[in-house]
Amino acid sequence: MSLPTRNRVRGLTAPGTTREAPPRRLSRLKPPTADRNLENPLREGLILEKVPEPSSTVIFGATGDLAHRKILPALYNLHRAGLLPPESKVLGFARRDYTDEHYREEMLAAVQEHSRSPVEPAIWEEFARRIHYQQGEFGDFKSFRALAERLEALDAESGTRGNRLFYLATPPSTYIQIINNLGGAGLAQEGRGHSWGRIVIEKPFGFDLESARRLNHDVREVFDERQVYRIDHYLGKETVRNLLVFRFANGIFEPVWNRRYVDHVQITVGEDLGIEGRGDFYEEAGAIRDIIQNHMLQLLSLVAMEPPINFDAEALRDEKVRVLKALDPLWPEERIREDVVRGQYAPGWIGGVAVHGYREEGEVDPQSTTNTFVALKVEVQNWRWADVPFYLRTGKRLPKRATEIAIQFKRPPLMLFRDASADPEPNLLALRIQPDEGILLRFAAKVPELGLDVRSVNMDFTYGTSFTTDAPEAYETLLLDAMLGDASLFTRADEVEAAWGIVTPITYAWSEWDRDGTPEDLHPYEAGTWGPDAADRLVERDGRRWRRL
Ligand code: BG6
Repeated sequence: MSLPTRNRVRGLTAPGTTREAPPRRLSRLKPPTADRNLENPLREGLILEKVPEPSSTVIFGATGDLAHRKILPALYNLHRAGLLPPESKVLGFARRDYTDEHYREEMLAAVQEHSRSPVEPAIWEEFARRIHYQQGEFGDFKSFRALAERLEALDAESGTRGNRLFYLATPPSTYIQIINNLGGAGLAQEGRGHSWGRIVIEKPFGFDLESARRLNHDVREVFDERQVYRIDHYLGKETVRNLLVFRFANGIFEPVWNRRYVDHVQITVGEDLGIEGRGDFYEEAGAIRDIIQNHMLQLLSLVAMEPPINFDAEALRDEKVRVLKALDPLWPEERIREDVVRGQYAPGWIGGVAVHGYREEGEVDPQSTTNTFVALKVEVQNWRWADVPFYLRTGKRLPKRATEIAIQFKRPPLMLFRDASADPEPNLLALRIQPDEGILLRFAAKVPELGLDVRSVNMDFTYGTSFTTDAPEAYETLLLDAMLGDASLFTRADEVEAAWGIVTPITYAWSEWDRDGTPEDLHPYEAGTWGPDAADRLVERDGRRWRRL
């Protein structure tokens, strides 16, 4: 997988000392390889940035929100960084009757609004020449025949060598018809002239365990698992990728990364935003399907996994799946009542602005029982983690946007300094995923005065002060990896099913409890607070507290 380079690992130095090397120029990058399988898989992860083979990226849902906000800006930035070969093409596929030119104009506006780097006219001109548009219906086979012909014409015109990356940026209800039509039109086949064909599938991948299994089955009727890239954008975040480097490129943390030293782990994905006009989607999903099933269980598995035997996609994902399989099921119902808290935001204030409650949002049932906040306690039942609770919490309309993994260590065996001052806090390691990306270590220090006062202090690494380069967007990293054929940061079929296996009993129980109207266990919380009191009680009954973020 494309972990940060050796240089970047070396770059983790104190602020103000060695700076990271300037970005490499295209001519010094490793050239595209004809057959990646010939590379020694044991070196995977040590290979520096790579340029993929030329290909056509076909975006289904090309006029939608995701294409505007994430996919096209990411492709533009890859082009700008010299990471897309000049022959590569982008082909938007959607219902609207656009010309290439119209689509390019719309995408220019989208990239200007959402790209992390400003649009430079000369670079855009060059990029725009690669963008094309194909009108079609997802359920209409003739549209896919026409798509196949268009792709062949692009291959012939520009030398994309028959390599295709299909991106499903469409509602999940359309996935199967698109996939079946791709299969019917022969577009899932690989191999002519060593060409490749891959499909990127957005979340949500399924609605529960059964539908995820069915979807996996249907996808594999057409594509081989090797060709399937299930995307979870959290895995492309630079700080999440750095979690692997932090754990496995340093010698000092791994020995304490276990039940002997760790008291508990807290993972928070907090958002101050509400549902942003996605009432329809959110009513079905709720926080548990939207965030816990994917992003949070992915973070948990990266924190808890064993070192993989290498950074090959299969080795890495094998270890993540093991963690998910070792999670103590949140079942039966009494266990859910005890260890899972759900909440829903009521009206409140965020940043001095009054905001609606969830039930007043557009497309939301005024009696809705959808969860916008979930906190839960789960255990990884294996040799390393037995008896170490993992507390997870996520919510919309919390006081701020903050995603963090906190490893709370045990207290020293004997508090020699107890009389000298207030009891110091136990050591803590906080991995800040966003914002203020960085890592903080909290430990006890003597207050520099006469006497023996002990206080907790922070040792703080921030990306902003240690590195001068901007981190790539998650979608840039993931699109590049998909083009390179590196699936390590994408979820495998068994992984998605294992995650649904944890979440489905909970959603099942909740839907049963919801039959009798507003259920007792759905706790309202005021927007702009850290969720319902019940979430505090979940950790306080174990003698612990949520970290204040
Ligand atoms: C998406 C969810 O997957 O992740 C959204 O559907 C959520 O509801 C978003 O807001 C959070 O992503 P990020 O990158 O802003 O933390």
